[in-house]
Amino acid sequence: MKEKLEALLQGALVELSTVSTEETLHELRVKYLGKKGLLTSVMKGLGSLSPEERPVAGQMANVVKVQLEERLEGILQDIRERDKEQKLRNERLDVTLPGRRRPVGTKHPVSLVIEEISEIFAGLGFKVAEGPEIEMDYYNFEALNIPKDHPARDMQDTFFVSESVVLRTHTSPVQIRTMLKQPPPVRIIAPGTVYRCDSDATHSPMFHQIEGLLVDKGITFGDLKGILTIFLNQYFGSGTGVRLRPSFFPFTEPSAEVDIACVMCKGKGCRICKNTGWLEILGAGMVDPEVYRHVSYDSETFTGFAFGMGIERIAMLRYGISDMRLLFENDLRFLSQF
Ligand code: DAH
Repeated sequence: MKEKLEALLQGALVELSTVSTEETLHELRVKYLGKKGLLTSVMKGLGSLSPEERPVAGQMANVVKVQLEERLEGILQDIRERDKEQKLRNERLDVTLPGRRRPVGTKHPVSLVIEEISEIFAGLGFKVAEGPEIEMDYYNFEALNIPKDHPARDMQDTFFVSESVVLRTHTSPVQIRTMLKQPPPVRIIAPGTVYRCDSDATHSPMFHQIEGLLVDKGITFGDLKGILTIFLNQYFGSGTGVRLRPSFFPFTEPSAEVDIACVMCKGKGCRICKNTGWLEILGAGMVDPEVYRHVSYDSETFTGFAFGMGIERIAMLRYGISDMRLLFENDLRFLSQF
């Protein structure tokens, strides 16, 4: 009996010395100390011993049992301690590492130009007005004194949705919609998207314009020149040269093309201004009485001026962009520079 117990203890200790997980430790506990374990089966042999030997052997078996239990408990504590340390090591946070930066978007140059120009005109008392991009032929052309079959329609290559509906070719129809909605005085700008059947390095089938309209009593061509000069000097820098050239638009009379001194060469002449020293920026003019007739304004009492400009062209001049298509390709390497 004594030898059996000793062999059992030795065997158990050898096996225990290689245990590294709680599961195998548990398996060994069952194997040696379980109800059907090795120690139990050895102790079953107690019955066949003599009454003198029995208590001695029983005590020995108990000592082995306690020893094994202590050993198992010790190993269990070691394993738990080791696992805990491992877990803490794995979960350790280095709070000195820099945080993850989220990329911050930038505004599109076309949006930037619209915002800046709108702000300048807000300072001059202009409110922002809007109109639909899918527009009636009537508002886009007819009410602006461009009748059907009139040669002036050739100035703007039009996308037709149906015979009477177009993609607006300019923001000028917002003038009509605004005047139909309210009596004078009017003082609005209308930024928006417009469409023309046109596509190359300086033309896109979709682009943006800002329209302006001011109608009141006693407005003269001098007011037109004054307001536009103030705007151009605020936007392109004070002292920027401004000149007006006679032009034609069906909805204004007289009409003018407004130029600024070239922003690249300051008027000396360069590739950008085609050696003229001037850049065409705006179309403008005094609202034609024929337009007032379409919106039932009294052209004897009220006069006013209107103007329109292309945003992409201004963005290209302002930021030195050579190809308009860059503004529509949505390449982040380009857009993130603004
Ligand atoms: N609508 C014109 C165009 O797209 C621009 C324009 C010219 C607008 C003169 C005006 C204006 O309001 O008075 O070419």
